[in-house]
Amino acid sequence: MNAPSQARSVERLVQGQATSDGAGVRLTRLLTQDLQRRLDPFLMLDAFGTDNPGDYIGGFPDHPHRGFETVTYMLQGRLRHKDSAGNEGVLAPGGVQWMTAGRGVIHSEMPEQQDGAMEGFQLWLNLPARDKMRAPWYRDISAAEVPEWRSEGVLVRVIAGFAHDVAGAVRREATEPLYLDVHLQPEARFEQALPASHNAFLYVYRGDMVLVGATAVRRQRMAILANTPGSDRVVVTAGAAGARLILVAGRPLGEPIAQHGPFVMNTRDELVQAVADFNAGRLA
Ligand code: FE2
Repeated sequence: MNAPSQARSVERLVQGQATSDGAGVRLTRLLTQDLQRRLDPFLMLDAFGTDNPGDYIGGFPDHPHRGFETVTYMLQGRLRHKDSAGNEGVLAPGGVQWMTAGRGVIHSEMPEQQDGAMEGFQLWLNLPARDKMRAPWYRDISAAEVPEWRSEGVLVRVIAGFAHDVAGAVRREATEPLYLDVHLQPEARFEQALPASHNAFLYVYRGDMVLVGATAVRRQRMAILANTPGSDRVVVTAGAAGARLILVAGRPLGEPIAQHGPFVMNTRDELVQAVADFNAGRLA
């Protein structure tokens, strides 16, 4: 007899680490390198959010990537993206830039504003070994192009994967990423299907807290969800102030992870090759 299905619980709460990257952009690194194995296929999650232009104005001038994908989701502010493949676009509030670095790209991500708020997330999604050297690809997805699912007190923006019957803007076969921006009215409840084997986490960025099972997840906390055997979903309930959160999940690749800064490969030799290729101008 099958055990009755159950919902995921919270395994661990993570506060994130204040850091800076690019040309002095201040951010909070939520998914740090020590969590890469636990949260495979995700390699990094940064949250940025500030009203102070001094915290973001330097932006991220030209820098390389190889071996994975970057997913940038804007909540406030505008960023201009330019890359060595000739792509260029402006990321506006509610929009997403999905970039597959593959064998290599050099790009810049610069603020398209002198003042005002800048807020959003950058998530790094690993590529399977067989795709790490594929051709680079990217897509700008405007706010209007992000599909939405709604029910009583709940609005879900579906960046990747499925929320109920709504398919997201991007699909990936190897890792089946789920990336949802969930807006909950006070005390609203949202239930999302989630295979037990997929690694998953959520981050509350507005409101006071959400409940996941018996655990309160407060604003500016990331919750790593337990891979509870036999579970098939997660249930999130907002507190009295309502809440907004991102929910991210994916099928682990189970492959070796070798990282040197903006290069993420499977072996040290591949990293040495990536640095050599960058230094020889072969990533442009
Ligand atoms: Fe980048």
